[in-house]
Formats: sequence, C-alpha cells, structure tokens
Amino acid sequence: MKNLPYLEVRKRYIDFFQRNNHKEIPSAPLVPEDDPSVLFVNAGMFPLIPFLKGELHPKGTRLTNSQRCLRTGDIDEVGDEFHLTTFEMLGNWSLNDYFKKEAINLSVSFFVEELGFDINRIYASVFEGYEDIPEDNISISVWKEIFEKYGIDARVGQGEKIQKYGKKENWWGLESGGPCGPDSEIFYDTGKPTCGPNCHINCNCGKYVEIGNNVFMEYFKDGEKIKSLGRHNVDFGGGLDRIVALLQNVDSVYDSDIHAPIFEEVKKISKVTNLESQRIITDHIKAATWIIMDGITPSRNQQGYILRRLIRRAIRHGRKLGIEGYFTKQIAEICIKQFSPIWIGLEEQKEHILQTIEEEEIKFNRTLDNGLRELEKIADNDFDGKKAFQIYETYGLPLELTEEILKEKGIELKNINLFWEAEKAHQEKSRTSSAGLFKGGLADTSEMSTKYHTATHLLLASLRKVLGDHIYQKGSNITAERLRLDFPNNEKLTEEQLKLVENLVNDAIENKLEISFEEVSKDEALQKVPFAAFSEKYGDIVKLYYVGEKEKPFSMEICNGPHVKNTSELGKFKIIKQENVASGIKRIKAILE
Ligand code: SER
Repeated sequence: MKNLPYLEVRKRYIDFFQRNNHKEIPSAPLVPEDDPSVLFVNAGMFPLIPFLKGELHPKGTRLTNSQRCLRTGDIDEVGDEFHLTTFEMLGNWSLNDYFKKEAINLSVSFFVEELGFDINRIYASVFEGYEDIPEDNISISVWKEIFEKYGIDARVGQGEKIQKYGKKENWWGLESGGPCGPDSEIFYDTGKPTCGPNCHINCNCGKYVEIGNNVFMEYFKDGEKIKSLGRHNVDFGGGLDRIVALLQNVDSVYDSDIHAPIFEEVKKISKVTNLESQRIITDHIKAATWIIMDGITPSRNQQGYILRRLIRRAIRHGRKLGIEGYFTKQIAEICIKQFSPIWIGLEEQKEHILQTIEEEEIKFNRTLDNGLRELEKIADNDFDGKKAFQIYETYGLPLELTEEILKEKGIELKNINLFWEAEKAHQEKSRTSSAGLFKGGLADTSEMSTKYHTATHLLLASLRKVLGDHIYQKGSNITAERLRLDFPNNEKLTEEQLKLVENLVNDAIENKLEISFEEVSKDEALQKVPFAAFSEKYGDIVKLYYVGEKEKPFSMEICNGPHVKNTSELGKFKIIKQENVASGIKRIKAILE
C-alpha cells in the first residue's frame, strides 16, 4: 500500500474519476438549505437527491467530489478507533449512466491500482434479496470476474471473498423515502486476528474495515412501498478518514495526518492519558469549527444545540483529562490551520469561529461547576428525568452530560420522559425535541416541500415588488406543512401590504408560469441577482432559477432546487403569520392550501 498524505489521497480520487469522465462538483455546506428534516448533510449523496430522482444535473451524468459530512447519530460512538462526527466522504455518481459492472470495476481500480491496496485482502458484500427484490447476482458475477482477473478463485459464502447479507447490511436509502437500492460494500482485512470462527466482514470486531460502498439506486421508496425508480443510478461513498488510516498504517483515524496535529496538541495539554477523551476533544472541536464555518452558532435549538453539545462535551472531557484553564480556542486554532487548505471558509472566518467557541466555553464553565456540584449532591438511585431537567434549567447542564455522569456512577436515569414533559411544559414555543436531533438525518424528499420551495421564490419576488429592492432572503425554513421566510425590513407590513403580496403570489400561480434554470458563472449570476445572499456553498458555476419567461421573469434566484415544473401545481397561497424576529428583521409564515 502507498503511504500517502491525505491531501494526496483526496486529490488522486478526484483526478482518477475526472480521468474517467466524471465532473467535479463542490462540497455542499454541512447545513442543508431549506430542508429541515435533516440537521446536517450526512452522506455525499444527500445534496444530489433531486438529481438521483431525475432532475438534470448541469454538470452531466458522471459526478465526483469529497463532501464534508456530519453524523449526529455517531456522537456517542466517538472515542473508539474509527468513529468521527465530521468526516469527508469521497463520492462518485452515475446519474442513469454506468451501472454495476463499471461502478465496481472503477472502485477496485482506484483502491488497487491507484492506492496499492492488496486485492488479496479485499472482500465484498452483496445483497442476498428480500421479498420481491432479487439477490444481486449481477454484482456477484462482476466481483467474481474481477477477482479472477487477479488470479483469485472467488467464492460466495461465509469466510469467502464474497459474502451475502440482507436488507440491514446491504440496502441503502433514506428512511423517509426517495431513491434507494441494494449495495455492495468493499472491505479490507487489517490483518488483525479473527474474533472467532464466526468472524465475518460485517461483524465489527475491527479485523475488517469498510472502505467503500456502491449503492445501486434503481428503486424508489414511497411510504412503505418500494417501486422501480425507472432509472439506474450509482452512488459510491468511501470514508476518506478510514482509507487514509489504513494507507498510513496507523492505529486509528486520529493518528493519521488528518487529525494527528490536533490529537497531538490535545495529548500535550492533558495531565492524564485517556485516549477516549483525547479523541472526543479532537473530534468535537474539529466538528465545531466546521459547523460554525457553515453559519451556525451555539443555541438551544436544532443545529445550534448540536454545536453547543459538542463544545460542552469536549470541555467536560477536558476536565477529565485535568486540562487547566480555557483550551478550546487553542485546539480550534490548530483545526482551522489543519483544514483551511480544503475549506477556505475556516481561514476567512477564523476570528468569528475562535470567538464563538471561546465564548461558549466561558459561558459553560460558569455554570458547569455549580451544576456538577449539585448533581454530585443529589445523584441517587431515584434520579429521574424531572431532576435532570431542573439541573438543565438551573445550571445549563445538558441532559446527555447528566446521563453520562450518572452512567459513570452506575446510576440509571429513570423516566427520561419526565425530562421531555418538563421541557415541553416549560416552553411555550414548540420546537423539535432534542432526542430526535441525534438520529441520523432523514431527507425530506416530499412533494410538498418542493412546492414550498417554489412558493418561497414567489414570495420573495412579491415582497421585493411591494416593499422595494432592499428585500433579500435572510433566512428560510421549509417543512412539508409551511414555509418561513426572514427578510430585512424596519416596519412591520401593513394588512394592505400583506394582502398585496399574497395576491401577487396567487396571480403568479394562476398565470401557470413555467419554472426553468440555467447554469451560469457566479459573476454573471451576481450581476443578474445582486440581492443573492452569497456564501461559500456556491461553486464557480451556479444555477439560476427562473419563474416565468426568462426574458421577463416573475422571479429569478440563485438556488440549487428542487422546484416544481409549473406554478399551477402550487394551489392557493396564504400568509398565516408575520413576526418580528430581530431588530429590523421580519418573518412571514405561509401555507399552500
Ligand atoms: N450513500 C452511501 C453511504 O453513505 C454511499 O455513498 O454509504
């Protein structure tokens, strides 16, 4: 195997797929735009959902990139050798272009020829079939052919080069629905001893590590039903961090050159050695810098809450390690230096990121001591969710930390429901319960959200017509039930103005306007749409969405979609609420009936 620096591995992957006629696309930001059903992008395919469903991608049918991802579901796993919350996923996609044979061959060529992985230590898993969906015998024969080419007589079965699994291991798609299909994963034998006679590639004992996954998306999940998608897509994803750890022959993802400078610094300032805590700090502070770069600040809700939880958890582990004084800024500085060559936004927003992290540490330290002291006092075997909530309310000690501390004491937190009930009673505003926030993300691919997405464009254009050119989208949030748009305006809108805006949107709907887009350079787009709130998330080439004729559109916005094809699909538009969200910022909530 070739011991390469990670930046080189990353580059070789993109170059390899470009040589094989793929176009590179930029990494989307961690926070998905206008899709509240998932807090963070958790796989490379996530931003491509509209295109996997059939929308034409401006760059063609073969795409590649390295996407920054965050998996909230893995927060509690961090601390072992291979789990991380933020990581990069190498991805290549065929949008109804090549299929199983070419996809698997490309993956193997990359690993074996480009990176020097030993084919003798590569294993494959394939889908064994489930209900109406047949066993993936095409992938089996592709794998056999590949192994044969290398002089290996590959067989199917336990302990063999090709191993079959069911839906749990070899089916991929988002819970909420959308494109999905059987997959074929690629594993590498680390050379560690087997865990016993029943050891197999998916047994997670550490002997075999998954290095990549080809998902063959020819199905579509609609509710509980699995239908044909009518297209054959490939979605490949491979964890850069794991691949690099194997190539560099190190013990964990924290010891490769991706994380080593951060990890070493954490070790240096620790008074005691505890690899788990040291890995948690490395991971969590790195994650915090990436999340803040993508526009989030610590708060009590949604992404802001995850960010807060990560920073606070890192601080608590810092205490465990006997680290004295404030330390998160010092670690964050190294994270920024380490990842700026890939994410330039880190360097550009350096001061803001460091300040945000440090402020959170100061705030947390103030309350943590008191909270921990109180918890020590009252922790007993009757400790329940209600008490956890009191500590949370009074000292800001997050539920997860309370749980963790109790666990260390061998105390089980009883009746966690009481925590949620108390929280609900306490808050007038309804908000997502944080329990739901830690699950893996679920993409909202519903038709309704797509409609709201288009309606938001109509609303913004109408507001500009009624109020003037100072209006732009300051924020937006869409669910399958409603849309929400924030924009700058000093005065609240009068009843008359609201009615005018509503009528303009409904006129646009009645006029059955077509929606189309074109791909233009960022500069050209900015000339046409100077009010676009630009950020790093847009590449050099952007999509310009038009509602109505291109020459004289009702609305023109820079956006990634998805959108309906014609405004006539939207139904009736109704503004249900206007709010003042911050000084000079107004919010409108609206529904489609
Ligand atoms: N989406 C698939 C995964 O996350 C492959 O990219 O494994």
